[in-house]
Amino acid sequence: MVPEIASRKHVELIDSVVEEAFEKAKIGWGEVGYVAVTLGPGLIGALLVGVAFAQGLSYSRSLPLVGVNHVLAHVWSIFLEKKIKIPFLSLVVSGGHTSLIEVKGERELEVIGETLDDAAGEAFDKVAKFLDLPYPGGPVIDRLAKEGNSQAISFPRAMMEEGFDFSFSGLKTAVINYVKKEGKERINLSDLLASFEEAVVDVLVLKSLRALKERGLKRLVVSGGVAANSRLREKLRQLLPPEGIEVFLPSLSLCTDNAAMVAAAAVPKIKRGEFLDLTASPDPNLPLSY
Ligand code: KG4
Ligand code: ZN
Repeated sequence: MVPEIASRKHVELIDSVVEEAFEKAKIGWGEVGYVAVTLGPGLIGALLVGVAFAQGLSYSRSLPLVGVNHVLAHVWSIFLEKKIKIPFLSLVVSGGHTSLIEVKGERELEVIGETLDDAAGEAFDKVAKFLDLPYPGGPVIDRLAKEGNSQAISFPRAMMEEGFDFSFSGLKTAVINYVKKEGKERINLSDLLASFEEAVVDVLVLKSLRALKERGLKRLVVSGGVAANSRLREKLRQLLPPEGIEVFLPSLSLCTDNAAMVAAAAVPKIKRGEFLDLTASPDPNLPLSY
C-alpha cells in the first residue's frame, strides 16, 4: 500500500462512501445521533482525511463526535451480532495487526501477544504480490488454496513454543525462496498456497489455544480481515469446542474493515460521555487504552 495514494483516494471517495452508506441503510440524517470516527492507529494521511471529514459533519450537523481505536473496533465488532460475556480472549488478525488481547473488562484490555514483524494479513498480501496475484492477497489465496494439498510443502511455524508473540516474515521468505528455487512456472500454485495458509492458520490457532489455557479463559473471539479466512474458520470450529471453549466469529462482512464496527466501538464511549472536540487530531500509534 502506498500511503500517499491511499490518502488521496480517501479524499476522493469519502463523500460518496458516506452517501452510499446512507442509501444502503435507507436512513437519513434525522436518524443519526452521533458521528464516530477512527482516531488511530493507522496511516496518518488516511486518518487525517477521516477525522477532518467527521469533524466537518459533526459541526455542520450539530452531532457529538466520538473518536474510536481501530483495533478496539475489531474487538467489539462481534457485539453487533452476539452478546458475549467478558472476560474473553480476542485475536485480532488483519493487514496491520496480529494481536492476542485479554479482555478483562470494557476498559481493561491487556495485549498479551503481538507480531514482531509482518501481520498475518500482510504476509498474505506480500506472498500474493510476489506471485503476481491481485491485492488484497488474502481472499485470492483463500480461494486458490481450497484446490490444493496443505501438506504438500512443509513451511516453518515460528515461535510455536515461545510466549504469545507472532512472527510471519520468516514464513513469507520461506515461501518466496521455495518459489525462486523451484521456478515460478514449475510450482503447483494451489499446493503452495494451501501449505502457506496452513502454516499461518496453525500458528494462529495453536497460540490462541495456549493463551486460553494459560489465562484460564473459555471464550475466544476472532476478528479482523484474516478472520474471514475459510481454513482458519474451519480449523477453529473443529479444534476448539471439544476443549469446552466457545469460539465467536463475526460474519464475513464484519471481519474486514467496516463502518459498523466503528459504531460498535463508539457505543461504550457514548455511554461514558467521552466525546471529541473539533480540534482533536488523529494518532497513528493510538494506544489500545484509548
Ligand atoms: O481488517 P482489514 O480489512 O484491514 C486492516 O485493518 O488491516 O484486513 C485486511 C487484511 C488484508 O491483509 C487481507 O489480505 C486480509 O485481511 N484478508 C484475508 C482474507 N480476507 C481478507 N486473509 C486471509 N483470508 C481471507 N479470506
Ligand atoms: Zn482493520
